[in-house]
Amino acid sequence: MSKEITKNIYDKHAQSWVREKPNSMSDFTGRPPVFELCGDVTGKEIVDIGCGEGYCSRVLEKKGAKSLEGIDISPEMIKMAKNQNRSELSNFQVGDITQMPYENSSFDLALGMFVYNYLDIGQMTQSFKEVYRILKPEGSFIFAVPHPAFPFIKNNLAPPFFFEFNNKGYFSARDSRNFGKISCIDKQTLPVQMVHKLFEDYISSLKESGFVKIPIIKELGVTKKHLSAHPEFFKPVKDLPLHLVINITK
Ligand SMILES: C[S@@+](CC[C@H](N)C(=O)[O-])C[C@H]1O[C@@H](n2cnc3c(N)ncnc32)[C@H](O)[C@@H]1O
Repeated sequence: MSKEITKNIYDKHAQSWVREKPNSMSDFTGRPPVFELCGDVTGKEIVDIGCGEGYCSRVLEKKGAKSLEGIDISPEMIKMAKNQNRSELSNFQVGDITQMPYENSSFDLALGMFVYNYLDIGQMTQSFKEVYRILKPEGSFIFAVPHPAFPFIKNNLAPPFFFEFNNKGYFSARDSRNFGKISCIDKQTLPVQMVHKLFEDYISSLKESGFVKIPIIKELGVTKKHLSAHPEFFKPVKDLPLHLVINITK
């Protein structure tokens, strides 16, 4: 049922997600540091998990990736991805990331950019098991989600980013689906969701899926560069933990 809700929301809003250059708040605060964490992707075979309209795939392709496979539950987002990126290096298909249509040990890097916040803890573990299966030995898994503490520190419904938790608490909200909005520089707002998980849930799910190495964890927020470029836009989220990034090797 929850997957149907997600699919319908993204099918409905697919056109609004299409962009050529950074537009939504997280295109500034979240995605660039994750691309940096990906390191040198030259010659790498990459899977873009919950690829949406293919923004990340396009960036990684420009950075020299050998090939990109994108998978998303929303047929409309996949349609946009195919329209936006016609390169022979990338392939996009509709699918559920809890059951991926790839061979074992196929990829050097699996990237999950703001997709695991749409899955509950059980679904996330199922998907992590799939990621473990399709990664090559020593392959990297990098994913970003909204920071677990964010909606409990900023609980007002003001732009540029918020989730409506209806007074639920950090522990009682665990595994609940909450709706929110993220603003764009071009003044649009996009609907987003956050199935709240604790730090321990991410770590336990990774462990249950076969990952045993110590992950690198990054907690991202607004930088001085963001504030000087767009002061009014970023001021309301200054000094807040916006995104959590986890990078683990198989
Ligand atoms: C916030 S968008 C991010 C898209 C893209 N990763 C990006 O960074 O621009 C989240 C995407 O996850 C997809 N998604 C959510 N649940 C999914 C699932 N179970 N399987 C595949 N895709 C899913 C949605 O359809 C949506 O396109």
